[in-house]
Amino acid sequence: MPRSTLAVSPDAGKGGAGASLLKAFLDRVANREARIGVVGLGYVGLPLVRLFASKGFSVTGFDVDAAKIEQLRRGRSYIRSVPSETVAKLRAQNKMTATGDFKALGGMDAVIVCVPTPLTADGKPDVSFIEATAKEIAASLRRGQLVALESTSYPGTTREIMKPELERRGLRCGEDFFLAFSPEREDPGNTRFTNEDIPKVVGGVDRFSCSAAAALYGAAISRVVTVSSCEAAEAAKLLENIYRCVNIALVNELKMCFNRMGIDVWEVIKAASTKPFGFQAFYPGPGLGGHCIPIDPFYLSWKAREFQFNTRFIDLAGELNIQMPYYVMGKLEDALAARGKKLDGARILMLGLAYKKDIDDPRESPSFKLLELLGRKGSKVVYNDPNIPTFPELRHHEHLRVKSVPVTPRELASKDAVLIVTDHSGYDYESIVRHAPLIVDTRNACGGLREWRDKIVAA
Ligand SMILES: NC(=O)c1ccc[n+]([C@@H]2O[C@H](COP(=O)([O-])OP(=O)(O)OC[C@H]3O[C@@H](n4cnc5c(N)ncnc54)[C@H](O)[C@@H]3O)[C@@H](O)[C@H]2O)c1
Repeated sequence: MPRSTLAVSPDAGKGGAGASLLKAFLDRVANREARIGVVGLGYVGLPLVRLFASKGFSVTGFDVDAAKIEQLRRGRSYIRSVPSETVAKLRAQNKMTATGDFKALGGMDAVIVCVPTPLTADGKPDVSFIEATAKEIAASLRRGQLVALESTSYPGTTREIMKPELERRGLRCGEDFFLAFSPEREDPGNTRFTNEDIPKVVGGVDRFSCSAAAALYGAAISRVVTVSSCEAAEAAKLLENIYRCVNIALVNELKMCFNRMGIDVWEVIKAASTKPFGFQAFYPGPGLGGHCIPIDPFYLSWKAREFQFNTRFIDLAGELNIQMPYYVMGKLEDALAARGKKLDGARILMLGLAYKKDIDDPRESPSFKLLELLGRKGSKVVYNDPNIPTFPELRHHEHLRVKSVPVTPRELASKDAVLIVTDHSGYDYESIVRHAPLIVDTRNACGGLREWRDKIVAA
């Protein structure tokens, strides 16, 4: 049977026991006495630990990865945006601890969940990490606790997966404990905004849950935006990411179209960007990367099927974006052929493994698809990424291993082509173009250079 609507219970949380528990919770937050647990200490969770700890709360980080816990206990960070000195300082102030012992969750007043939400091998939402975490929290859930989910997921996840699991032992949401969704808006590499400045959307399973979560986030984040339900908050996050995914697909399509017409898409975007209203620039690239944009839209398209709805924009954007590495391969092949060379046996230096500029996160990066395609064609590839000096272990490309080399004039000159996949700011593009015989540039990294234009091919 198709669903007609997501279950919403706006009446829950109207009075009684819930009201006095909420008051006690709000007091503990206001007095900075609330103990906060963050489950999942990755790119989202660790910066959140830092944020709450720096606002005077006592924060405990929980993770299943013993190596991460060990590093944090030694005062070391494994995420670029959170320096080790900060970890060491917060630990010295007794504001931050890390543990793999989930029994300690019962001692927290608020538990924030930041576990992964990938896709399964056949492209469906994998909410198993959320389910496992809900079980862990449920085992020691007590009256008055707030649980806030931050992992991106489809509308309905908080109410349909978290709530029943948390209520299994008899406590009732909105009366005995509080449950909300608040999406993370972390933008790795963006130094203009910190997680303190980025407004936080909060939606509760019920009214009290919304108030509890809004108070908690309001104690650390400059602006909290409450919405009427956890479903609206879940959907808001998906809208943000689908908006990016669709617009990137559009500009990728226009890149291919304009290229065929002999028009430079980068020049076109620059010109269109001078319009002071009604236009926001998106930039083409070698394909989508990261934990969010290539994945999250498909959480919605999967859920929409339950309502007999096809999300055609999402599917089309997915189709276009997935083609981009193949387009880049075609451009590289043509450029080599124009110089009397073939992909088979070509010596290629790939610049950049990270999925975007100036970050150290290689997840879902199009560089891996390109390495795989180049390998299949018989090319001899090495790579450089100043932020990822060692080739990472990969879930989807287990057998892929590529050597890391420095970017020296000699290395550049010894290649048939340099393929720019990530436009890290640290590269000296002028020197790269001067020494390499051919540059295939997927990011317009060499767009500003006037000399040796005949060596540069936009892809
Ligand atoms: N990275 C981003 O820029 C970003 C931005 C917005 C939203 N998100 C969303 O936030 C969520 C987390 O993303 P991330 O980038 O921090 O992921 P991540 O892989 O960097 O971190 C997740 C952490 O959770 C831990 N973990 C896995 N299962 C666990 C369990 N059962 N209990 C405790 N810990 C567990 C992992 O060991 C890991 O340390 C995802 O839903 C993602 O879509 C990510």
